[in-house]
Amino acid sequence: MDQLAAHYHAHITELNRRVAEILSREELSGLVIHSGQAHRQFLDDMNYPFKVNPHFKAWLPVLDNPNCWLLVNGHDKPQLIFYRPVDFWHKVADVPDAFWTEHVEIKLLTQADKVAELLPQDIENWAYIGEHLDVAQVLGFKTRNPDAVMHYLHYHRASKTPYELECLRRANQIAVQGHLAAKNAFYNGGSEFEIQQVYLSAVGQSENEVPYGNIIALNQNAAILHYTALEHQSPAQRLSFLIDAGANYCGYASDITRTYAFEKNHFYELIVALNKAQLELVDMMRPGVRYTDLHLATHAKVAQLLLDFNLATGDAQGLVEQGITGAFFPHGLGHMLGLQVHDMGGFAHDERGTQVAAPAEHPFLRCTRTLAVNQVLTMEPGLYIIDTLLAELKQDSRKAQINWQTVAEFRPYGGIRIEDNVIVHQDRNENMTRELGLND
Ligand code: GLY
Ligand code: MN
Ligand code: MN
Repeated sequence: MDQLAAHYHAHITELNRRVAEILSREELSGLVIHSGQAHRQFLDDMNYPFKVNPHFKAWLPVLDNPNCWLLVNGHDKPQLIFYRPVDFWHKVADVPDAFWTEHVEIKLLTQADKVAELLPQDIENWAYIGEHLDVAQVLGFKTRNPDAVMHYLHYHRASKTPYELECLRRANQIAVQGHLAAKNAFYNGGSEFEIQQVYLSAVGQSENEVPYGNIIALNQNAAILHYTALEHQSPAQRLSFLIDAGANYCGYASDITRTYAFEKNHFYELIVALNKAQLELVDMMRPGVRYTDLHLATHAKVAQLLLDFNLATGDAQGLVEQGITGAFFPHGLGHMLGLQVHDMGGFAHDERGTQVAAPAEHPFLRCTRTLAVNQVLTMEPGLYIIDTLLAELKQDSRKAQINWQTVAEFRPYGGIRIEDNVIVHQDRNENMTRELGLND
C-alpha cells in the first residue's frame, strides 16, 4: 500500500486541477458525485450486485457502498458523505480508515433520504454526476451530467496518474496469478466451471468483484466472443482453452486473454504465430501513433497468418480489402482500460468531445485515439472460426479464396485471442501483463 499512499495525494491534486478548469469554464461551483443506489430485482426483495459510478471511484476506492456522495470544487479537500445506516439485516460499511482518508473530509449519513441536509445550500450551482437523474431533480440540481463536463473528464481520464498506473499494475499482478492457476487447471482436466473456480480463488475475488464476467471457453466455445456459459461437464476430448479474465484493484481493472493448445499441433503453431504478431503490434505503440492504424496493421498480420496457415489464398492486401480478414478477426484490436474495462473516451478527439468514429468497415473498434504518454490500452488480436461470419463469405466469389478443409481442421479449436495491458511511456511500452509474469 505504501507506494499507493505516496501517489494518492498527487492523484487528488490532478483530479482537482481538472475539475477546477472545467468548473471555471462552465461557471459551476462544484460537482456532486453520487456513488449510486441499489437496484431492486423485479417483484423481489433482493438487489442486483452494486456497481459504483466510475466517476466516484476515480476519487477514492469505495466500491461497495451505495448512497454515498462526493463534493468536489477543484480547490478544497474533497468531502465524502459516507452512508452508514442503522441496519441489522445487512453489513454496515466501516468508517473508512485507509491510505486515502486523510486527504478527504468525511461526514456520515445515516438515512439515505436525509442527504439534502449535507449537500451545499446553493445546489443549483453544482452539477450532479451520476445515474439517478430523478433523485438529482428532487434534490434541486439544475445541471445533471452536463455534456461539457462529461466530455472533458472522459477525454482527460485517458491520461492515467502515477496512482492509477500503480493500481493497474496491481490489477494485472493479481490476474496473472489467476491465469497461471487456470492454465494448470486446464492441463489437469478441469471443466470450464472448475477452471473458473480455480481462477477466482487464485485472484481472491468473487464473481461480482472481478471487473467483468470471465470468458472460460474449452474447444469450439472459444469461437464465441463473449462466451460466459461455464459448462460443468468436461468435454470428451480436450483441444483448446481460451481464457479472458481480469481482476480489480481499488476499482481499476485488468483485462487479459490467453489461449492454449492441449497438444503441440498445428493449432499450437497458430497460437505461437499470433502471439508473435501481437508482440510486434505492441512494439508499434508509441506516442503519436493512431490506434486505428494499429488496428489496420493487425488486419494485415491476420491476412498473412491466413496465407501462412493455408486458411486462405490470394494476396494479403486483397484479403483485408475484401473483408476476409474481418470474418476471422471481427472485433477491435483493443480499447482503453482503467476504471472501466472499456474506459470512456475511446473516440474522443479533444476535450470538447469531438468524436472520431471507427472506420465504417471496422464498426467494433472501440478506440480511435492518438496514443499519448500514460495511456493504458489493451492489445488483443484474435483469429477465430466463426461459422456465421464464414457463411457470408460463402455467398459470393470470396468462397473460392477460403481453404474450407483447413477451416474444418481448426473449427473444433474455436479460436485464439491474446490480450495484454500496456502503458504507453515516452520512450518505451510497459507491457504490464508480461512484465508481471504471464510470459507465454
Ligand atoms: N474482456 C472484454 C474485452 O476483452 O474487451
Ligand atoms: Mn478481454
Ligand atoms: Mn479487452
